[in-house]
Amino acid sequence: MKLKNVVKTGIALSGLVLASVLASGSASAGQTLTLAQLTEGFDPARTYTQSCGACHNSGAAGAPRMGNAEDWSARLEKGFDVLVEHTISGFNNVMPPKGMCFTCSDDDLKAMVQYILDESIKE
Ligand code: HEC
Repeated sequence: MKLKNVVKTGIALSGLVLASVLASGSASAGQTLTLAQLTEGFDPARTYTQSCGACHNSGAAGAPRMGNAEDWSARLEKGFDVLVEHTISGFNNVMPPKGMCFTCSDDDLKAMVQYILDESIKE
């Protein structure tokens, strides 16, 4: 398939998904929100590297380290929502608000916390 056609199909498909969600009314408000609020083309892995990796790869200033299950299990004891909240607002003056990703929406940041946990805690 030519690239142009792939792109067209992609657009048609996403329109279809959105239309069916709206029409069925069976999707929860939360699901519709997720569709609407992740920044277009958002990729947690790429944005992690750009915004969070500088501190979270090395553990600079006591940052919980990417891929370290112990570091993240201890954090997760507070609850996922608290971690997301601390990512959005910053934490202890050393974790900067939004992890310095100022173009990230709250849902982008939430997806990134999930990404870090998924990559770090593998059961
Ligand atoms: C300038 C360095 C820095 C950057 C950039 C950064 N962090 Fe952090 N982060 C920290 C430090 C340091 C801590 C530990 C703070 C503490 O426990 O006192 C932390 C803690 C956290 C926590 C745990 C909060 C808690 O309640 O225990 C999460 C989740 C987190 N960061 C996510 C992110 C995400 C997502 C990004 C990128 C969007 C990011 N961070 C970017 C330094 C950074």
